[in-house]
Amino acid sequence: MRVCRTIAEIRNFVRECRAAGQTVGLVPTMGYFHEGHLTLMREAKKSCDAVVVSLYINPLQFGPKEDFAEYPRDFDRDAAMAREVGVDAIFAPPDEEMYPEGFCTYVEVTGITGRLCGLSRPGHFRGVTTVVSKLFNIVRPDRAFFGQKDAQQAMVIQRMVQDLNMDLEVVVLPTVREEDGLAMSSRNVYLSVEQRRNATVLYRSLCAFREAVERGERDAGKLRRLMVEMISSTPGAEVDYVEILSVPFLEPLEKLRGRCIAALAVRFGKTRLIDNTIVEV
Ligand code: PAJ
Repeated sequence: MRVCRTIAEIRNFVRECRAAGQTVGLVPTMGYFHEGHLTLMREAKKSCDAVVVSLYINPLQFGPKEDFAEYPRDFDRDAAMAREVGVDAIFAPPDEEMYPEGFCTYVEVTGITGRLCGLSRPGHFRGVTTVVSKLFNIVRPDRAFFGQKDAQQAMVIQRMVQDLNMDLEVVVLPTVREEDGLAMSSRNVYLSVEQRRNATVLYRSLCAFREAVERGERDAGKLRRLMVEMISSTPGAEVDYVEILSVPFLEPLEKLRGRCIAALAVRFGKTRLIDNTIVEV
């Protein structure tokens, strides 16, 4: 597995792959790998000859009061895990390589970024779409792989690729969960034992939502209240948002119809966790 720290190095690697007639897959990450990341890498390996994983904690997508400084980092562990699943190259640039002095160009998706995490984290998606555009331009992959865990992020990136005619396929893969249902996240390591136990309410509330929809409930307000009540009655859980919206335009609904997403963000102390589920009515 090749480790590239500069844009020139990773471009060289990709050039060699292309010269050998290989297709290239890209898995963008911020590291501190878990089974969710590894699943994206394995799937990428199945459908592409060469897989590049980018590992870059993008300062542009963190707010001033967010966890950029504390975000968990362990490059050696990540590199070993990536090698184990057959990743061909890691692109792990320093900040100066991605945002050299004078950098002042941004990519912004409007509309669907104005809800959910876009409301609680102003500027977040602009940071994500800017860095992902750069990664796409640097690696020029045939396919890029993202997780459903960050559903809004995946929709925003699909929108950007479509609107800006980027020549690649975006593949979105299902959320990987712990045995008790908690969605895997690099941020789960922030949780205390008690918070970790209580955090299962996120998944339980999404299951309750699905079950109510299966029983025939279509009233978005009632479904939302059901989830909010479950979460709010859990010790230490503070709701950031619980929303039921249409897919893919993320518009508010009164009655569920077609594809709908239930998405939530909940704080346990300083840790903010997100999760979601999509139903077809
Ligand atoms: P990060 O949080 O490291 O996630 C990298 C990729 O792994 C994302 O596509 C995310 O949706 C996916 N992922 C995370 N947890 C998952 C889970 N439990 N199951 C399935 N997939 C999961 O998302 C980012 O990094 C950044 O915003 C990035 C796209 C790299 C841009 O900086």
